[in-house]
Amino acid sequence: MTKKTGQSFLTLRDHTPAALRSILDLAVRVEGDPGAFREPLAWKTVGLLFEKSSTRTRLSFESGIRQLGGGSLFLGADIQLARGESIEDTARVMSAYLDMVIIRTFGHDRIEAFDRASSVPVINGLTDGHHPCQALSDFYYMEKVFGRLSGLSMAFVGDGNNMARSLAEGAALLGVHFILAAPEGYRLPPEEVLHLDGVARKNGGSVRVVADPREAARKAHVLYTDVWTSMGQEAESRQREQAFKGYVIDGSLLAEAEPSAIVMHCLPAYRGKEITAEVIDGPRSRVFEQAAARLPLQKAIMIDCMERKGQ
Ligand code: CP
Ligand code: NVA
Repeated sequence: MTKKTGQSFLTLRDHTPAALRSILDLAVRVEGDPGAFREPLAWKTVGLLFEKSSTRTRLSFESGIRQLGGGSLFLGADIQLARGESIEDTARVMSAYLDMVIIRTFGHDRIEAFDRASSVPVINGLTDGHHPCQALSDFYYMEKVFGRLSGLSMAFVGDGNNMARSLAEGAALLGVHFILAAPEGYRLPPEEVLHLDGVARKNGGSVRVVADPREAARKAHVLYTDVWTSMGQEAESRQREQAFKGYVIDGSLLAEAEPSAIVMHCLPAYRGKEITAEVIDGPRSRVFEQAAARLPLQKAIMIDCMERKGQ
């Protein structure tokens, strides 16, 4: 069985601004009246194939699937894939039993290979390259707080990693000004930044990279950070701790931002490294509200994928 194109949710850059807007609007309806969305996954089974650890992504998807009337199956390190069965064979087999698959894995090429071989929609629950569900959920939350996205400015302090990339892509499509402050060697590739900035300019935003966290934070509405060492990079953690010294959200960086600025972090967080305890546990931090927003937003993503599949 072949799959229609455009059913999966692998990156934000695959979408048009209108497609992202429609998911954001659906999430508002889902959150406002969850009881009206008890059936979209009735008699459907969704697999979660996770090759890395997870708390929020796994729980918010599993809980969302149940709330939408479906069943979920968590597939960790004990399936044959971990013993060397090919990703393509795994995808073909899983497509026969499941209606949708959420994947958390290493190289982004793995989820693309799975998606090509699968006949059911695939949702990216994080790869080394992208974290699109988290990023779209973050924009959903920001819109709730500020009442708009267009023209907001977001400073991301730290590693030009999967999180930074997905936020930059979302910002470009949704008209947000995104500035990454990262040390040399840990930035998004310049050609990618140039391309995203071009997309952003058409939508009223911009995408830039700077070295100085203070320059990025100045007048920002949102200060955002993520871990210095992502899953899979543990061997580099010493070197990264050296490289990212000073790339910290602390009280003095927060003082550079807009007076109404909020602090966001996708979590898990390491207090005393990328963010101080004073800031993450302080009054401007919204990290737990931000985490909560994943539930309605991901329910909207799943409904959207199933609708595009034609159930
Ligand atoms: N933010 C996020 O994706 O958290 P988990 O790694 O716990 O899923
Ligand atoms: N950049 C982090 C995000 C964790 C949610 C990682 O990939 O580990």
